[in-house]
Amino acid sequence: MPVQWRALEAWMKKFTFKLAATLALLVMAAGAGVLYATLAPGNRQHLGNSSCAGCHLAGDRVNAENASILTASQEILCGQCHPKAIQVSHPSGFAPKNKPPAAYPLDWKGDLTCSTCHEIHNSGNGLMRGTQRGKALCLSCHNDQFFAKMRDRGVSTQVGHLGGGSFVAAFLDVYSAKCMSCHDQRGNPKFATAVDQSGVVRHAGSSVNHPIGVNYKKSTIYGGYRPMHMISKKILLPDGKLSCVSCHQGYAGEHGKLVMNNTGSALCFECHDL
Ligand code: HEC
Ligand code: HEC
Ligand code: HEC
Ligand code: HEC
Ligand code: HEC
Ligand code: HEC
Ligand code: HEC
Repeated sequence: MPVQWRALEAWMKKFTFKLAATLALLVMAAGAGVLYATLAPGNRQHLGNSSCAGCHLAGDRVNAENASILTASQEILCGQCHPKAIQVSHPSGFAPKNKPPAAYPLDWKGDLTCSTCHEIHNSGNGLMRGTQRGKALCLSCHNDQFFAKMRDRGVSTQVGHLGGGSFVAAFLDVYSAKCMSCHDQRGNPKFATAVDQSGVVRHAGSSVNHPIGVNYKKSTIYGGYRPMHMISKKILLPDGKLSCVSCHQGYAGEHGKLVMNNTGSALCFECHDL
């Protein structure tokens, strides 16, 4: 890590928003034991393939009038898939003293939240509301003095969230999360991979759809799987979990190569005992 970045990080820590930290804890508590999903391939619109009832009390009957009645705060709902967007980020989930311009609506309880800046069901362009970007966006609500008194003139914060590109499904191991940082819906559609609501990897080529993030040992209890000590050492189970690197080599000259030849479904039978 470059020295300036560390200094900036230390500086950020000092000024870290207590609100964001509290919310992060709330999300972790709420998220325990829940499987998180990404968009299934096909619908490019953000959340277009998600269950509406996951967020809207009206479920499938959601419309513009009742859409604001959500099953939990947006910090919780959105934080499940975007945990970093609520840490070291613009504060969210509080009632501001001054009402922002109409282009940046507060929620029903008067809170500034994710949907104040983001158009949830849009696609592309960071899902931003309005046409202002960068510092100009910030100046829609803040004045110049607000940034002038900051030691870096606010430049470090004007990106919105410091943990950019932060999609990490919380139940995935670190390696799968790394793979998904490139193989999510943003990359080449031919190689785009999704992890859906039930924790199933959906390969674009639909070669194999497979559970991921599940504890291998627990699965073996019910039979149908070979005991953990009998499976090839080439199959990695980080934290005991099914991972992209259980089937694919994580670090190899031939990127994405399977951990072993799958002729006759040899890879599958390493684990499956049918
Ligand atoms: C991750 C949570 C989440 C999911 C899943 C979700 N929505 Fe929403 N939706 C929101 C939020 C947040 C808003 C903004 C609410 C507000 O303005 O107070 C919203 C707004 C809306 C609106 C109002 C118009 C707009 O675009 O702002 C409609 C209509 C809507 N959603 C329909 C749907 C439908 C249909 C589905 C299922 C395919 C769905 N939503 C799934 C969170 C979600
Ligand atoms: C089920 C998981 C899931 C949930 C819940 C979710 N997102 Fe996302 N979000 C994604 C995925 C996957 C992408 C990347 C694909 C894309 O750009 O559509 C994404 C992308 C984004 C982006 C960046 C879009 C871009 O073009 O760069 C924003 C902003 C965003 N989400 C905000 C939100 C907000 C706000 C909520 C809560 C209402 C939310 N998300 C809830 C999965 C989710
Ligand atoms: C929709 C209005 C709105 C927009 C847009 C907005 N802010 Fe804010 N921001 C607020 C409000 C309200 C607060 C709460 C503190 C206050 O009232 O000044 C706040 C707080 C902050 C804080 C925390 C201050 C502290 O001392 O804890 C920072 C830093 C900040 N904003 C930076 C930015 C940056 C950078 C941007 C552009 C990416 C931005 N804001 C865009 C409304 C907004
Ligand atoms: C004050 C405005 C503001 C608020 C409030 C806000 N964001 Fe953002 N967000 C931004 C800006 C600015 C960007 C950068 C957009 C771009 O790419 O141009 C961004 C980008 C994102 C991205 C994509 C890039 C990344 O960092 O991964 C996600 C995901 C996201 N926001 C989620 C959220 C969630 C979830 C919330 C609520 C907890 C939220 N945002 C609240 C301003 C905001
Ligand atoms: C830095 C971005 C990045 C990361 C991280 C990444 N990949 Fe890839 N991957 C790519 C690109 C780019 C391609 C080739 C796409 C193309 O040719 O257009 C690819 C291709 C693949 C292929 C297809 C190979 C083929 O030729 O059929 C597999 C399989 C694959 N990746 C698996 C993985 C796995 C598993 C991980 C995590 C261990 C991972 N990737 C991490 C960028 C990435
Ligand atoms: C149960 C084993 C298994 C798991 C787990 C798995 N894959 Fe695969 N993957 C395969 C097989 C088998 C193929 C087909 C390879 C071939 O035909 O050479 C494949 C193919 C791919 C491809 C090539 C394009 C396509 O869609 O066929 C990509 C990219 C890829 N996997 C990425 C991932 C990523 C990212 C993860 C983790 C999120 C993952 N895989 C998890 C077995 C798996
Ligand atoms: C690393 C071990 C491992 C490998 C390799 C593996 N699987 Fe699996 N597979 C599992 C486990 C464990 C489950 C059960 C997960 C759960 O408990 O939900 C499973 C579940 C499945 C399921 C869902 C069945 C159900 O009833 O839930 C299918 C289908 C499947 N595997 C097919 C395959 C195929 C095809 C291959 C080869 C490309 C393969 N598996 C390779 C461990 C593995």
